[in-house]
Amino acid sequence: MDTEINTVNDSCNSSTSSDWRTYPFATEPIPKLSISDPEINRYIAETRPVIITDSKLVEPALKWNLDFLHENLGSSTFNVLVSKNEKFMYYDTRKVQRTKGFHSDVKFEEMKFDDFVKRLHRASDIEGDNVYLQQALNDTVGKKIVDDFVKFNWSWVTDQQKRHGWGPLTSNLLLIAPPGSITPAHYDEQENFFAQVGGQKRILLFSPDQFGKMYPYPVDHPHDRQSQVNFDDPDYERFPKFKEVKALEGFINPGEVLYIPMYWWHHIESNPNGKETTSVTFWYKTGTLPKQIPYPLSSQQKVSIMRNIEKMLSECLRNPEEIGPLLHMMTDGRYYNTHNIMPPV
Ligand code: FUM
Ligand code: FE
Repeated sequence: MDTEINTVNDSCNSSTSSDWRTYPFATEPIPKLSISDPEINRYIAETRPVIITDSKLVEPALKWNLDFLHENLGSSTFNVLVSKNEKFMYYDTRKVQRTKGFHSDVKFEEMKFDDFVKRLHRASDIEGDNVYLQQALNDTVGKKIVDDFVKFNWSWVTDQQKRHGWGPLTSNLLLIAPPGSITPAHYDEQENFFAQVGGQKRILLFSPDQFGKMYPYPVDHPHDRQSQVNFDDPDYERFPKFKEVKALEGFINPGEVLYIPMYWWHHIESNPNGKETTSVTFWYKTGTLPKQIPYPLSSQQKVSIMRNIEKMLSECLRNPEEIGPLLHMMTDGRYYNTHNIMPPV
């Protein structure tokens, strides 16, 4: 399929900036609906992304600018990712030891909020010192933050949790990112209401049925759940099916909430022409399986099965280099010939 370069120009998802990056894949807008629109329930029930306006989910936090946070977050230290460039690709430090030759431009540091703010402001002057605060909201925060947190629209979000049979809320992550920063494409293993508090973010989403086109790192790798493809310069020899990916694209502004279903890939950018951006995530465990499982399984369920198979092979073989050859030996020339199905090209 021919690739096409998309420029951002959509009335429902409008952004005035022309400095957003362009990427070589087709996009369609993420639907944006008001909280009063009953269609929202259908989107969430069908695990399809939607941007929700007017929910007032984090209304009390809309005043959380850097000064307010500085005064009220408390004096403890906060988790900050420090990157040599504008990309903040997460990695699991527990998996670094067992991965030969692993290198990352990102480090994890703990720092006081005023150190973070100083480095955030200096970022454009000092090469290689980009900071992104990613801190779970916990009981160390000051009283005014707690008061605001308590006044979040818990009745709406808890109603959603119950309606869709989700498990418990696991965490609320406070994210403060510099303009132009990028969280590269990855998927999470939880349902997420992603609430924008300050500044504007652009989100690119890829459905879980595009797993094979996104080339995730192996489960054992520190970059597990992240795509290996560099969106700025895709290596089509190594990742040929990335040419066929299709994205949903949306822009979220303060007060808006994006539903990111579990296993949906997301690539997130902060407006390069704006100020820092602030967001709060609401992560929920997914629900338990229904007694009567519908077949064929959904692409989410298949991703979950693949992860379990990879984990099992990793435990049994104890050598990540043996996993790929074993999987090849198991399938090559077998299932396709027998069931008369063509292998994916
Ligand atoms: O940068 C971000 O806003 C990332 C959020 C997420 O991965 O959930
Ligand atoms: Fe994520």
